[in-house]
Amino acid sequence: MNITVIYGVMHKGSTYHIVKLFLNRLTDDSDKIDEFFLPRDMDQNCCGCFSCFLNGENTCPHFDKVHPIAESLEKADLIILSSPVYVFSISGQLKSLLDHFGYQWMPHRPNKTMFSKVGLVISTAAGAGMKKANQNMKDNLFYWGVPKIYSYGKAVEAIGWENISHEKKNIIEREVNNLSRKIKKSVGRARPTLKTKILFSIMGLMQKKSKWNPTDRDYWEKNGWLTGGRPW
Ligand SMILES: Cc1cc2nc3c(=O)[nH]c(=O)nc-3n(C[C@H](O)[C@H](O)[C@H](O)COP(=O)(O)O)c2cc1C
Repeated sequence: MNITVIYGVMHKGSTYHIVKLFLNRLTDDSDKIDEFFLPRDMDQNCCGCFSCFLNGENTCPHFDKVHPIAESLEKADLIILSSPVYVFSISGQLKSLLDHFGYQWMPHRPNKTMFSKVGLVISTAAGAGMKKANQNMKDNLFYWGVPKIYSYGKAVEAIGWENISHEKKNIIEREVNNLSRKIKKSVGRARPTLKTKILFSIMGLMQKKSKWNPTDRDYWEKNGWLTGGRPW
């Protein structure tokens, strides 16, 4: 199995350690794991030039930095997005990276490989905000087309892994084990839900009618999605 992990921060705190617990349960030596730390591996904000949407993603001024991550995501069977909760949301760095993948949201040019992948979103907070942060990451994966998305959020009541109580660490370990079993079963078996299928059809109708962006429309046409073809 190929796994792409995106860490929304550089430091190795509670979120990082929980990601590692998942990787430990989910993988063995035969698996390939690509890890990207932000902002080390992508340190640019979207500048709002619209070039990715209008002229193709390879014209993004930050293409050289985004491309290796895009390539890894394309090969992944499992995509893990992770972030500590910062003011009820994900880290700014992760938001900046995800903005760069707006072009591959379903209303634009979804990547057909996404429609069989599994996603896992992970966040930790001192007390609250995991639901909102996880929802943000889930929204991105969903609109990329990822059909099965798991989430794990934990209020750790701490500002670092070493400050988490032993009791809480035991609970985390149990929860990670249980969720990992489910994730393992679904990797390689995920299929689009009715919600994804309906949304995709609506996006197709929109592309048929719209002349706003020929780059998006040509993409849908070339893939045969305007004449009934589907990426799954
Ligand atoms: C800028 C900033 C904003 C934060 N916002 C929240 C918040 O909205 N809710 C919360 O419960 N904790 C908040 N925290 C605490 C962290 O989310 C929490 O300690 C988290 O577990 C840290 O994860 P890490 O060890 O992986 O860095 C914030 C911390 C920072 C530095």
